[in-house]
Amino acid sequence: MSEAAAPRQAAATGPALGRRIRVDVADRGYDILVDSGSLARPETYASLPAGEVAVVVSNATVAPLLADRLLACLRQRFRAVSLVVLDDGEQFKTWDSVERIVDALLAAGGDRRSTLFALGGGVVGDLTGFAAACFMRGIAYVQVPTTLLAQVDSSVGGKTAVNHPLGKNLIGAFHQPRLVVADLETLATLPQRELIAGLAEVIKYGAVADLAFFDWIEARLDDLLRRDGEALAGAVSRSCDLKAAIVASDEKESGLRAILNFGHTFGHAIEAATGYGSWLHGEAVGCGMVLAADLSRRLGGIDEVGARRVAMLVERAGLPVRLPPLPAAELLALMGHDKKAEGGAPRFVLLDTLGRARVAPVEEGLVRDVLLDHGALR
Ligand code: NAD
Ligand code: GLY
Repeated sequence: MSEAAAPRQAAATGPALGRRIRVDVADRGYDILVDSGSLARPETYASLPAGEVAVVVSNATVAPLLADRLLACLRQRFRAVSLVVLDDGEQFKTWDSVERIVDALLAAGGDRRSTLFALGGGVVGDLTGFAAACFMRGIAYVQVPTTLLAQVDSSVGGKTAVNHPLGKNLIGAFHQPRLVVADLETLATLPQRELIAGLAEVIKYGAVADLAFFDWIEARLDDLLRRDGEALAGAVSRSCDLKAAIVASDEKESGLRAILNFGHTFGHAIEAATGYGSWLHGEAVGCGMVLAADLSRRLGGIDEVGARRVAMLVERAGLPVRLPPLPAAELLALMGHDKKAEGGAPRFVLLDTLGRARVAPVEEGLVRDVLLDHGALR
């Protein structure tokens, strides 16, 4: 069982742009830069160790938009700079894509001093981080996240993975990046559906660790949805503060960090049951948070008002709040493969109240009731 003990200062006060947030992990801390236009500024990368070879990993959507600017910067610092362009989509978060990254490193003459750069959303970030963890038993990598979800969550904390047909992220490693470059300007081209998916993870931080931030998201949701720069900077900055503090206190998820999986036990089952890609990860998490809040309420945690606030915020953001029409038994079986499961029994992040969470196993009958009451089939 783990309880949230994240910092509780007021949300998004002070300038949120141009910030450098430290992630203090045991053997090698690193910075998250939250700024606008930083991707294309050579000084952004000045703190990186000098190396011969840099390989930028991106995908077919993001590379045409942003790769040239990054490559031009890196050519000022590395002798050989190349680009590998992966297929776009969660369904390509596989071993094959990792092999393509390794092939690119070998073709570029890569060695232990080489650096990978992940230019894209969470899929590119997780794949690149995993390739960096595996290549020659571990090389450096930098996260350059270009989705809201990746800027507030996946690029920070060193979780890297590929999917298995039986479950999300079942094959992976903890491997921390050297630097995270969260350039808000890159979000300009992000489709609205993807922006909304990223808001699910922003809401998550407020729900599990920071009531003041949850209040702030409720108040600024319309600004976030219309991409007001100051509101987005506040959301990214505060989310990264919270994630950095949680990761620093529990890098390998032996306790507190598990609260960041709020909504994910349900969400991962939705993603696996619908075939990765039809529901976005953030959409599945959004719906999962509504179910997890309801489950928490039924177990005597969060009160009815709090559970309703979670559901209303998720719905107002434009995220799904009902399950797809799938058999409850199928979803329950998939939850048994979740990484938090112990001996096949799924564990859930439960809200004691808004802003405070814990992790606990839950009896299957109660989970089934929640699934059935939120749209699953008998
Ligand atoms: P994604 O990487 O699939 O990106 C979403 C879509 O947006 C893609 O089509 C992508 O090409 C496109 N895109 C990215 N940046 C763009 C831009 N600037 N302009 C236009 N289009 C752009 O999805 P995501 O939501 O970023 O990440 C989801 C993944 O992250 C999942 O695989 C999930 O498991 C993983 N994840 C990992 C962690 C972690 O801690 N490692 C945390 C949360 C999620
Ligand atoms: N996204 C959950 C974590 O990084 O722990």
